[in-house]
Amino acid sequence: MNQIRNIVILTGAGVSAESGIDTFRDAGGLWEQHRVEDVATPEAFARDPELVLRFYDMRREAIQTKQPNAAHHALARLDAEWRGELLIVTQNVDDLHERAGATRVLHMHGEHLNAWCTACDERSPWTGPLLDRPACPECGVAALRPDVVWFGEMPYRMEEIFAALREADLFVSIGTSGAVYPAAGFVRNARELGAATLELNLEPSQGSSWFDESRHGPATEVVPAWVDELLTRK
Ligand code: OAD
Repeated sequence: MNQIRNIVILTGAGVSAESGIDTFRDAGGLWEQHRVEDVATPEAFARDPELVLRFYDMRREAIQTKQPNAAHHALARLDAEWRGELLIVTQNVDDLHERAGATRVLHMHGEHLNAWCTACDERSPWTGPLLDRPACPECGVAALRPDVVWFGEMPYRMEEIFAALREADLFVSIGTSGAVYPAAGFVRNARELGAATLELNLEPSQGSSWFDESRHGPATEVVPAWVDELLTRK
């Protein structure tokens, strides 16, 4: 690889799998247990808010019992030690990157630990349930929803992501199936913008052939090994 200074890392559910958080599309994953149309669309929320709120209340409660794994810790170490630009763009709605100590993290699909008020548009930190329709701490109206991007909604902070991709020398995708756009298209954007591309995943993803290099194995093994390699080659 040529000189690397600026890095964009895309993470997905595979990075949190070994912390005990279900992925979406693996055998037994969330989308095998629930229909996306029932729990993860604005239409589902309008039709049956209790079902949707109960689903996200369970997920919000569950992630708070999980711990970051060696992959999160390795990425936090890279974040702390890397002198160039670095951005971890995560599709995950858990907070395990942050709890491992990473700071340069952007949640493009939102966060379980936020509630979003559809009346006043404010986001508030939230750890408890939403099913009982609590009032927004900002405006007092009971109009809170999970701050999670649903199918049919625009992912967050796309301008910042594309600004980082434009400057990137290296794009790394970790633990994501490459099934959901726009994240699945970042590898092609990065290539066209001149970055080297690397995939770290349990198995070849749907977009594997777009990467210059793919390494396969559990995130807790392949991510720390890659971070060690990168930090010692400087
Ligand atoms: P998926 O469930 O689609 O894919 C998880 C990927 O992680 C698969 O390619 C697995 O092979 C891989 N994987 C599983 N265990 C792993 C491990 N221990 N180490 C490394 N890789 C492992 O999850 P995402 O790609 O994150 O969006 O899904 C993308 C989006 O689809 C999610 O953000 C969510 C979902 O619908 C929304 O809810 C908006």
